[in-house]
Amino acid sequence: MKKEEKMIEVNIPAVFKELLTLKKRVKLYYGGRSGGKSYAFADSLLLKARQEKLFIVCLREIQSSIKDSVKKLLEDRIEHYGFQDYKVFETRIENQVTGSVFAFKGLRDQDPQKIKSLEGADIAWIEEAQTISKKSFDILLPTIRKKGSEIWISMNRELENDPVWVALGANPDENTFVKKVNFYDNPFCPKEMIELALKTKKTAPEDYQHIWLGEPVSEISSKLIAPVLVRRAQSNSFFETTSPLVIGLDIARFGDDESVFCFRRGRIVEKFEVFKKKDTVQLADIASRYLEDYQPKKLFMDIGANGAGVYDILMDRGFGPLIKGVFFGAKAMNPDRYVNKRAEMWDGILSFLSQDLEVLLPQDDMLFGDLTSVNKKYDAMGRLLLESKEEIKKRLGRSPDRGDALALTFAAPVFETREERFMKTNLFGSGRMQVADLFQKPKYQGW
Ligand SMILES: Nc1ncnc2c1ncn2[C@@H]1O[C@H](COP(=O)(O)OP(=O)(O)OP(=O)(O)O)[C@@H](O)[C@H]1O
Ligand SMILES: [Mg+2]
Repeated sequence: MKKEEKMIEVNIPAVFKELLTLKKRVKLYYGGRSGGKSYAFADSLLLKARQEKLFIVCLREIQSSIKDSVKKLLEDRIEHYGFQDYKVFETRIENQVTGSVFAFKGLRDQDPQKIKSLEGADIAWIEEAQTISKKSFDILLPTIRKKGSEIWISMNRELENDPVWVALGANPDENTFVKKVNFYDNPFCPKEMIELALKTKKTAPEDYQHIWLGEPVSEISSKLIAPVLVRRAQSNSFFETTSPLVIGLDIARFGDDESVFCFRRGRIVEKFEVFKKKDTVQLADIASRYLEDYQPKKLFMDIGANGAGVYDILMDRGFGPLIKGVFFGAKAMNPDRYVNKRAEMWDGILSFLSQDLEVLLPQDDMLFGDLTSVNKKYDAMGRLLLESKEEIKKRLGRSPDRGDALALTFAAPVFETREERFMKTNLFGSGRMQVADLFQKPKYQGW
């Protein structure tokens, strides 16, 4: 027992002392990597739960499996301290002396019924709170309602307007305690991490500000799309949609570029199909096949440079009503806001990723790189302009072809009515497609 107490004294950095000493409804610690937040929260909770009976819920936005939770960290700390009074179960941890229980939940999966189980919580620890959606947060706050209950929040700020930050951190009320913690506050910060932080400070000052000093991205970055938006969309789980299919086709400009088809149905980006070293005819053949097999509502294609040839072939083959050529440099639909079509379409991606409703992107690292690497600028009239493809290519080492293909799916709004679906039969009158083909597909049976 004596041995344990001695270890306990030294292991929580002083900067976190309020976790155990201050009585507040909300305690929010934020900052950059390796500030010691996760460890200090885990240690403080383990200590508290040995002193009194507490129901502690450890929450994050998405918990696909228990592996995503802080359970492993708590187990490691229990082992580190040699606490004999804790018993670890598959999905919970219990203190056998006080009867305290730690439970682990993902907020995204909580329907109004399930969330009731959180109502008895004495302490809710929200880890990585920058990823908590507004919807989750709005449900959570009134659910942690037990008298004297506390909400402990650890986060690395991502955006200026992370919902949790806006609600609690930006203008804290008298029940809310907010403190910034960075790696230099953590006496246990590993040497490698300090070295990495200092190296980043030299080589990429913007990244240093964000990653290591915990500054939100938008304040310091000139990037159009914040990584968190892409990550969020890439970690969402599948949902059904009845939206029509739209295809974007970005065509390689140079030998080493890729031609990319992007398949999007409303809020779901289904897939990317990537082709290297294809000539105009080959690409037109692939596009024709997709148009026939998938029957998109529209295929928007880049007709700058090599795209024009592909477009002509598709027109010849009678796909005219289904395809629309887009010049990235053309005038935007809204010329007061955008210097050109390209800026407007990429801003379409930003709006798509920023909407309240969930959206889905494939888990593709190249796509992540493309979407998060584009810098934005404004012209003298305050209109959005993107840095040139050449500049991006220099930095990224390739051109952001997947991003451009996705952007193309936002070239113009696409709606489809039930009547229109029937009318498709007429649209193909002059093309290679036969009316009968449409009706042989099971999709159309029973209509
Ligand atoms: N109490 C401690 N005892 C020993 N090592 C610690 C302690 N607290 C932190 N560390 C060390 O510091 C590192 C960073 O701590 P921690 O992961 O808690 O920081 P964080 O603020 O949660 O960072 P991140 O944003 O990366 O999640 C840990 O990996 C660990 O090596
Ligand atoms: Mg952490």
